[in-house]
Amino acid sequence: MKHGPLSRRTFLAAVGATAVAGCASNKTTSPIPVTSPEPGAIPADTTSASEGFNSLWIPPLLEGTTFDLTLAPSTATLLGGKDASTISYNGAPMWGPTLLMKKGDTVTVNVTNGLDEETTAHWHGVHLPAEMDGGPHQVIAAGATWSPTWTVKNNAATYWYHPHAHELTWPQLSKGAGGFIIVQDDDEAALALPRTYGVDDIPLVLTSRTFDGDAQIIAKTIYGDYLLANGTLNAEAHMPAQIVRFRMLNAEVERAYTIGFADDRTFWVIGTDGGLLNESAEVTRLAMVPGERYEIVVDLGSDAVGSVVTMQSFNGGYSLGYPGAEPNESGDFGSLLNNKTFDVLRLLVIDATADGVKNLPTSLANNALWSAADATNERTLSITASGPGAPFTFDVNDQLFSMDRIDQTVVLDTVEAWTITNNFIFGHSFHIHDVQFAIVERSSGPVPAHEQGWKDTFYIPVNEKVTFVAKFDDYASSEHPFMYHCHMANHEDEGLMGQFLVVDKA
Ligand code: C2O
Ligand code: CU
Repeated sequence: MKHGPLSRRTFLAAVGATAVAGCASNKTTSPIPVTSPEPGAIPADTTSASEGFNSLWIPPLLEGTTFDLTLAPSTATLLGGKDASTISYNGAPMWGPTLLMKKGDTVTVNVTNGLDEETTAHWHGVHLPAEMDGGPHQVIAAGATWSPTWTVKNNAATYWYHPHAHELTWPQLSKGAGGFIIVQDDDEAALALPRTYGVDDIPLVLTSRTFDGDAQIIAKTIYGDYLLANGTLNAEAHMPAQIVRFRMLNAEVERAYTIGFADDRTFWVIGTDGGLLNESAEVTRLAMVPGERYEIVVDLGSDAVGSVVTMQSFNGGYSLGYPGAEPNESGDFGSLLNNKTFDVLRLLVIDATADGVKNLPTSLANNALWSAADATNERTLSITASGPGAPFTFDVNDQLFSMDRIDQTVVLDTVEAWTITNNFIFGHSFHIHDVQFAIVERSSGPVPAHEQGWKDTFYIPVNEKVTFVAKFDDYASSEHPFMYHCHMANHEDEGLMGQFLVVDKA
């Protein structure tokens, strides 16, 4: 099968109207529920949201091999139906276009910086040369355009792009800058999986934000008070009564999400950060830390048309150290969403589509993941801080991130095991650029089935040690480093980041 089903034509025909109406309805309906809507009532106009809800924003899809992105000031209709200033790509309210790429293609992205400060554009999870990576060294000055190009080598999966400028990731991400990358390949295309963008295949990015008295986003907040799904408050999606797919992304500053459904139904993880799992993993709860993606499928085939299924985050009952378990509702680490269960997305079930997926394929991929025995070199890092309240650092003599210091040098084509330990106060989200790895050991117990796929980001709880194995292949440079860091944007900006070179054999 070719890659046709997720074509622009399909997108325009099938969801263009929904997406546009979603945007428009943000402007005309109150985002705060004023009355309790009838459970299950389908609005007369099925492209608009039920009373008290807003249609989930579906970012427009761009495809081809040349993509144009412009990051500039924009607005999103958020708290109280008021316009909040955002920064976003190509005029989106928050969350810019989804870039659809085909494995094997050589792509170019022209990124124009329409802000009055510098930015970068990082392709999270994508395997490419360090100088195309968009880390803190590939600065795009205000008004400038940067045009990285690379050959898509990643597996079909969900990746994303976001600013990564030195000490600016946190505020720029908070204001709305980011977007999805969907890679397709022939193996994934051959499977009977939901694949109609915006209809049964939904990108879903979760963040939370806090607003000031004028309903403006407070850019450097750790935990937001209001959940935003694709930048939409009180989001509703109309989902056909069949198997549906969500490409989940936690793009929070710091909060972890424990995803599930209000009726505790089971669902299936089909893909991790860097590809499909060999087999789907059945779950009722799925924890995700900032930067992580999971592709999940949910079976709505037995749900009556007009019924409501609510996706929630079950963040209550964790001990301190879990990101978002802090008990306070205000203050630096406070939030109205902390340490409780809250709604993420309301799914209103509509008629199945003609060719809707009814059964999941039993086998999804043939990944040969690395094991500990494959590694020929080992490294250890520990996450620490000089004391409570001090910025977190990697243990290289307690040094904060420096643009001018190379922390690790890896020889091209080496398979390495990296062990990260965390014995200080708080959980983190570890992410490394360049590679997709296999998690081979967690000190707390077996690596869960849904983590046994290609990953680039993982949760490291306090008092845990995690080992992953990766091969650093294809791209060497004695000049341009890649990053590894905590993906909690505040920790990253405060210095919990290091850089490594991948160099040719001497
Ligand atoms: Cu999502 Cu270093 O990045
Ligand atoms: Cu951290």
